[in-house]
Amino acid sequence: MHFISALYSVAVTIALVLPATAAPQPITKRAPSDLSLNAQLRLADTAIERYQLLPNDSDFVFNFTGSEEVPIASSQNWPALVGVGASFSISQLPACSMSFLHLHPRATELFGLTSGRILSEMVPQAGVLNADGKQRVISVELGPGMVTVYPAGSFHTQVNPDCEPASFAAAFTSDEFAVSLIAEQTFSLPDDVIARTFGQSIAGEDIEKVRGAIPASMAIQVEECLAKCGKEKRRV
Ligand SMILES: *[C@@H]1O[C@H](CO)[C@@H](O)[C@H](O)[C@H]1NC(C)=O
Ligand SMILES: *[C@@H]1O[C@H](CO)[C@@H](O)[C@H](O)[C@H]1NC(C)=O
Repeated sequence: MHFISALYSVAVTIALVLPATAAPQPITKRAPSDLSLNAQLRLADTAIERYQLLPNDSDFVFNFTGSEEVPIASSQNWPALVGVGASFSISQLPACSMSFLHLHPRATELFGLTSGRILSEMVPQAGVLNADGKQRVISVELGPGMVTVYPAGSFHTQVNPDCEPASFAAAFTSDEFAVSLIAEQTFSLPDDVIARTFGQSIAGEDIEKVRGAIPASMAIQVEECLAKCGKEKRRV
């Protein structure tokens, strides 16, 4: 007991002495202004310092109406989110369209509808099975005032089957949630890997054909719906 407390007091003494004699010196001194605002926010010692780096009350507002870009507010375009662990989107899924199959590698998503109708499909992690022992697919229909959840990493897609746009808001549990595109990224692998992955059911030119056919636009048009609504297919 004595021995341990003696060791402890030696350790404490060393810990107290070391900083004074051997404090590491920065190699180069850098003015904080050399760094981007986001970098400064990430390096801030405390949340109090982060508030000091955002002196304007308007720093705490993101205006989706004025935003020309993808309607996503993350720490990448809204510094007030650095360190907060959340991000947000407000947008519409156009009439007769489907969002491409995707997942968010770092965030769970809460997806809520404010107008219109959305058919949502979600594939949870492997091992989540339905009553027949097959991979479970969670299919829900959302109307105004309804929310669904896509746990981080789950594949999901949404279809707007109606002739009017569907308006939604989505919250994410990461300030930089990011998107992975299932089809496009899978088909970026070498042909032989793809051929083996799909049990040699697709090979050679067919792989290239599939690669070329994967839609690049976020909203894929749904042909049957376009016909129902008397809309022309837009050329993209
Ligand atoms: C605060 O906002 C005003 C008006 O938008 C802008 O001119 C000013 O540069 C901002 N100040 C800082 C420190 O960001
Ligand atoms: C938001 O942005 C839009 C478009 O730039 C602008 O018309 C509107 O006044 C902004 N809203 C506020 C409250 O500043």
